[in-house]
Amino acid sequence: MFDYQRNGNVFAKCAGGLEELLARELSALGAQCIEPLYLGVSYQTDPRTLYRTVLESRLASHVLAPLVTFECQSEHDLYNCTKQLDWSVVLDCERTFAIQSHVSDSRITHGQYAAQKMKDAIADWFVDKEGRRPSVDRENPDVWFDLNIRRNNATISIDASGGAMHRRGYRKESVAAPMQETLAAAILTGARWHGERPLYDPMCGSGTVLAEGLLIAGNVPAGWRRCRKRAPTAALPDFDQALWDRVKADAEAAQVEVPAGLVRGSDLDRDAVKATRTNLRRVPGGSETQLSRVDFRQLDGVQDSLIVTNPPYGVRLEDRETAFAIYKDLGDWLKRGCTGSTAWVLCGEKELVGALGLRPKRKVPLRNGGIECTLVELELY
Ligand SMILES: C[S@@+](CC[C@H](N)C(=O)[O-])C[C@H]1O[C@@H](n2cnc3c(N)ncnc32)[C@H](O)[C@@H]1O
Repeated sequence: MFDYQRNGNVFAKCAGGLEELLARELSALGAQCIEPLYLGVSYQTDPRTLYRTVLESRLASHVLAPLVTFECQSEHDLYNCTKQLDWSVVLDCERTFAIQSHVSDSRITHGQYAAQKMKDAIADWFVDKEGRRPSVDRENPDVWFDLNIRRNNATISIDASGGAMHRRGYRKESVAAPMQETLAAAILTGARWHGERPLYDPMCGSGTVLAEGLLIAGNVPAGWRRCRKRAPTAALPDFDQALWDRVKADAEAAQVEVPAGLVRGSDLDRDAVKATRTNLRRVPGGSETQLSRVDFRQLDGVQDSLIVTNPPYGVRLEDRETAFAIYKDLGDWLKRGCTGSTAWVLCGEKELVGALGLRPKRKVPLRNGGIECTLVELELY
């Protein structure tokens, strides 16, 4: 019996800063003994809640089901302890696998090297038992394993989400610097938006905010597209297909139609509007979304709505000057035409917050695709 089967403990990973929000989401999904930790949340679950998390969580990036934890002072410990597991319970030679690894504060310092050692141990275990070994597929394996070595303690888990959950499957086209899907969902969740008032993104780029808004308003599970063809949880040794089917059917039955005009957006750039249109076609209710190609400065305004956007930011000096001008104009536009609305603006760097010329109700430091950002909430009276 593996660790997660014995104690029901699993670990949902998330981006830094989202731990508390994820804890709340997991509680609503039925998780117990929830503990927000660094870059994730530990919780206790039965199989139903575990499947629900994998299918429905909007904020988690992976859900890990631990198999075993052991002291790991050296590569020999890693190899020997890995080789002691009965790998036939979680893998066979007909299935492919891959390993994602993370190492911190430990004698083993290289994640990739550690993954290589673990792979060797699994391959050797199969060769000893069966004379052949399963293949590695780093793109689309049947089973994803996660190896985490922290302070010389190694935990080997099965990634029950079967890879990164932010890859919802609707983003076919993209623009420069798209917002990560889990972050867009987190902003909407933090704003406590469930579709009660209109949502608008005046710089929609590839449409991530709009897509996540449609999923939330339609009560569509974040993983509905990833999980359409196969259950990521099928990699678990105790996977229950009938239960998974019931969880999916319940989620499908709970979906609702999104009212026309509830979610809208625009962008200056023709390719961005085209990308948004393409992507939204792949989201339930997204084909009818109102989109326009327009400079936000030409818009009259958006009243009594939720406005969520991330304007461009500049790394080069001339781009930075343009970025400061855009933020100033955005602040003016919000003040002028958006009374009764709340705006959440993801600012590419904290210096840009001041350029908006509005006093934020809240400032939240966040990372978007490796960049330190500041999210601000603005009440527009
Ligand atoms: C960082 S991207 C937004 C990314 C988007 N959130 C996504 O997930 O793909 C910034 C967008 O602002 C748009 N933009 C820049 N200036 C604009 C303006 N004055 N009016 C409207 N859109 C503008 C750009 O075309 C670009 O698509």
